[in-house]
Amino acid sequence: MNAGVRHLAILLLALCPSWLAAQNDGIRLFKSNCALCHAEDGSGNTPSGKALEAKDLRSRETQSKSDAEIADLIAQGRNKMPGFAQNLKPDQIQQLVAYIRHLAKK
Ligand code: HEC
Repeated sequence: MNAGVRHLAILLLALCPSWLAAQNDGIRLFKSNCALCHAEDGSGNTPSGKALEAKDLRSRETQSKSDAEIADLIAQGRNKMPGFAQNLKPDQIQQLVAYIRHLAKK
């Protein structure tokens, strides 16, 4: 292994645990706060989701919004979507935005 590759490997190892932890937090936060309406896969295919017409978070409509727009929406809510600014910290909301992006790629 040359020095460049070795440095890269060390860098990746150093970054991985925090990246994985952030992903796990996103899943955990989504399951406990959002899945009731949006379903774990983001489809909105739950009894509450259907009753309230929760959006499919994997859709082009949602995914074409910027991270800032999605974060704002989660914080403030809109129509029947409750706002979470009181209950979630800004970095938790960022983790949820990342999780919503991840849903679309499945
Ligand atoms: C009580 C049910 C409910 C819960 C809980 C809920 N949502 Fe929603 N959500 C909705 C509804 C209903 C809409 C559609 C709002 C509208 O019609 O304007 C929506 C819309 C959204 C949108 C906008 C989609 C778009 O393209 O406009 C995002 C993003 C979103 N929710 C994320 C979340 C996240 C993240 C959580 C958890 C922190 C969450 N929601 C929790 C019901 C819910």
